Amino acid sequence: EKQEIVTIDGPSGVGKSTVSKKIADALGFTYLDTGAMYRAVGLFIHRLGVDLEKENDIPTLLESLELYFIPPAEKGGDVGVLLNGENVSEVIRTPEVAMVASHVSAFPEIRKKLTEMQRILGERGKIVAEGRDMGTVVFPGARYKFFLDADPRERTRRRVVQLREQGVQVDEEELHAMTLERDKNDRERAIAPLKPAEDAVLLDTTSSGVEDVVEKILRIIKKKA
Ligand code: C5P
Repeated sequence: EKQEIVTIDGPSGVGKSTVSKKIADALGFTYLDTGAMYRAVGLFIHRLGVDLEKENDIPTLLESLELYFIPPAEKGGDVGVLLNGENVSEVIRTPEVAMVASHVSAFPEIRKKLTEMQRILGERGKIVAEGRDMGTVVFPGARYKFFLDADPRERTRRRVVQLREQGVQVDEEELHAMTLERDKNDRERAIAPLKPAEDAVLLDTTSSGVEDVVEKILRIIKKKA
């Protein structure tokens, strides 16, 4: 028996968040932003000033980590995160924290901890889980799996627009380099690399608008339900 879970994986800037929120809204499911969790842990480790290459007791470090989600401030907005009681919803959205997240996400103990948390959050089903390894590792038994991809240039352009809307100023070339590096890290890491699950539906979003992608996904879900 498959879980009533929709997984949406793909590289950064592919439109996963916008699409996932809309799918969750349409189905009345809860949206699970797992990138926000990796970003918060990245910030946590970064602030501790710990070098993970040398630190060999990551589980102990993680014992003092407490993560809570808070609902978005406005409809369609980003999910907020409380990191040890502090509202880090805005800081975690910067490209710098994204880079740190990409780095810490390669460590097995960190992935293990977040995978456990994600499975607890998905236990009762009815979630749209967005990330890199939702269909492959965290929810292999999900009924509806999607993998979004798009041309890297187009993905950078989308991220620039999105960040500017959030008031974050970025240099496009710099962001493009960071996007490529982050994807490379995510695709090449040993554990839970970014790749489509065997039973995922692949969608290229390079030249399609958000609404088209959402419609296509909803149609596939309805057919399978
Ligand atoms: O999706 P987002 O850009 O917020 O993710 C930030 C980083 O967190 C990614 O570049 C990736 O390294 C990591 N991540 C991950 N597994 C997930 C979600 C995010 O490794 N399920």
